[in-house]
Amino acid sequence: MVAPTVEYARKLDKEDSLRRFREEFYLNPGSIYMDGNSLGLLSKRAERTLRESLDDWKEHGIDGWTKGKHPWFDLSKRLAGLLAPLVGASAEEVIVTGSTTVNLHQLAATFYQPQGKRTKILADELNFPTDIYALKSQLHMRGYNPDEHLIRVKSRDGRVIEEEDIIEAMTDEVALVVLPTVQYRSGQILDMKRLTEEAHKRGILIGFDGCHSVGAIPHAFSEWNVDFAYWCNYKYLNGGPGSVGGLYVNRKHFGKNPGLAGWFGSRPDKQFDLEHAFTAAEDAGAYQIGTPHVLSMAPLLGSLEIFAEAGIENIRKKSLEINQYLMELIEGELADFGFEIGNPLEDARRGGHVCLEHPEAVRICKALKENGIIPDFRAPNVIRLAPIALYTSYEDVWNVVWILKEIMVEKQYEKFAKEREIVA
Ligand SMILES: Cc1ncc(COP(=O)(O)O)c(C=O)c1O
Repeated sequence: MVAPTVEYARKLDKEDSLRRFREEFYLNPGSIYMDGNSLGLLSKRAERTLRESLDDWKEHGIDGWTKGKHPWFDLSKRLAGLLAPLVGASAEEVIVTGSTTVNLHQLAATFYQPQGKRTKILADELNFPTDIYALKSQLHMRGYNPDEHLIRVKSRDGRVIEEEDIIEAMTDEVALVVLPTVQYRSGQILDMKRLTEEAHKRGILIGFDGCHSVGAIPHAFSEWNVDFAYWCNYKYLNGGPGSVGGLYVNRKHFGKNPGLAGWFGSRPDKQFDLEHAFTAAEDAGAYQIGTPHVLSMAPLLGSLEIFAEAGIENIRKKSLEINQYLMELIEGELADFGFEIGNPLEDARRGGHVCLEHPEAVRICKALKENGIIPDFRAPNVIRLAPIALYTSYEDVWNVVWILKEIMVEKQYEKFAKEREIVA
């Protein structure tokens, strides 16, 4: 049981084996950042590699593609090498490219291959909207009615999706399953290994949106035999706003032509032959499309160095502990104020954030911000609070709960309008 004192929080900070990383990040004095699951903070190393890439441009102009400190031509591949351990894949199975949405379009265009009565795509009703929009438009482009061909597995409680229900929906009409690794609202981790096995038993391909897990929890995509995955690098990986995303394709699919071809998917030695016949790269590089967004990749070089040093297992361990600490403080101190914890409580089923539900969530978030705490709001009633292993201290968490208690006792939220901001 945690003691609800600041001294106890400080003791936990002293014992935190990752505490040295906190000073590598730009934390705003007077503010506590609890939104690293939406946009991670800038680290000094990420800033350094971005500046170095600007210097490469300054000094080398076009020759920056092959010269300078971080040559651009194979940057996507070098970054893939750093990312691969975080998703449990070989470097060739990963590439840094595109955005989450674009990568899903690419992967669905490649792996959704309706045949005979197998024409449907299986997703879930709690999925992030962009995934649903992309899947619907992929169906539409192939001439299928998305209302009939996109199956969305229902949640029993509006928070989590039961694996049994997904498996039951894997019928012989399903060609492809696309699910999140971690639900963006409730933080539920789906059992990717089990779902992959069950999909494959039924002859169905399966891919995962890893936005809410990459950089927060370890993965074993290759070992689990997952067909493909895609994610953003701006949340837990601290790659910066609009940072270039990542994708993984299991090596058994190497050689499969990309649904959306572009010249950066070429075999690197063939690309500048500039032939109209496309020779696809022999690895996940084939699923790149156009010129990489170099300046939106450069911060990742520095950021991923930190992950290599800290180790994803250590990050997960602290993340579980500090989230548990937050939940216990909430239960102990806020029990009388109508909050409910909406994330699963078991370690194996919870991701990197706490999902705090309250009917007044939107106004409470505004009050938190006025008090210097940055949470985020997810309609209709969720306050997401993400203590980040690399830069959130136990004392931060203690302060968050104390300030939240004050807000509730004094009903500070009542002075705010009950509507969300344009960006929530
Ligand atoms: C699960 C999930 N998928 C996709 C996205 C966004 O996709 P993109 O990076 O293409 O904007 C988000 C953004 O928060 C997300 O949470």
